[in-house]
Amino acid sequence: MARGRFITLEGGEGAGKSTQTGLLVAALVAAGIAAERTREPGGSRGAEDIRGLLLEGDAERWDAVSEALLLYAARRDHVVRLIQPALAAGTWIVSDRFADSTLAYQGYGRGLPLADLHELHRFALGEFRPDLTVILDLPVAEGLGRIGRRSMLSDRFEQLDREFHQRLRDGFLAIARGDPARCVVIDARPDCDSVHRAIRAAVGARLGVAFAA
Ligand SMILES: Nc1ncnc2c1ncn2[C@@H]1O[C@H](COP(=O)(O)OP(=O)(O)OP(=O)(O)O)[C@@H](O)[C@H]1O
Ligand SMILES: [Mg+2]
Repeated sequence: MARGRFITLEGGEGAGKSTQTGLLVAALVAAGIAAERTREPGGSRGAEDIRGLLLEGDAERWDAVSEALLLYAARRDHVVRLIQPALAAGTWIVSDRFADSTLAYQGYGRGLPLADLHELHRFALGEFRPDLTVILDLPVAEGLGRIGRRSMLSDRFEQLDREFHQRLRDGFLAIARGDPARCVVIDARPDCDSVHRAIRAAVGARLGVAFAA
């Protein structure tokens, strides 16, 4: 049996990752491919427990290094327990966020050295990486607007927040430039169906899937 393919969807907050993960899995299944969705942080039981540690409590609960280590503890569990066995059984996996989010948030966003994060990846996962990464690119204000964040923030915090999210966006684009064989950047501004069709075209071209018209 042919090994399944591993596809990740990445991008800033509100870019449409969760929406497009669902649409892509449905399109793969309609094309006759066994496919399942998963997400990070989380995806496996241990990783979902760690997700709770990462998302609960105040923003200062973990410093950037502890956060990166927790994310990679979760990621290794997710890969070893869920993703690799599924791929070995011929199932395609589509993940809503993966390792590029750690590079973007903890590296470009919070300032950890990128070389250290690459080393952490190698220690946790060796050469394991996605077959294809779709980076959904959206202006920061549009992404935050979609998830209703602007009104909740004071002017000063909104400015800091905007700068952080701009570093994330620039970081994802730099990741794509650095690894064009794995990554494709998709304009996330059009409506959901148009973005979905652009993703299908990229998956078709890169991984040879014949989607139903
Ligand atoms: N192409 C689109 N055009 C307009 N609105 C969209 C589009 N795609 C998604 N949305 C809406 O924007 C919001 C965020 O979408 P979604 O949850 O898929 O993004 P996300 O990238 O997963 O966000 P988060 O980073 O918060 O997980 C949702 O309300 C969704 O319905
Ligand atoms: Mg989401």
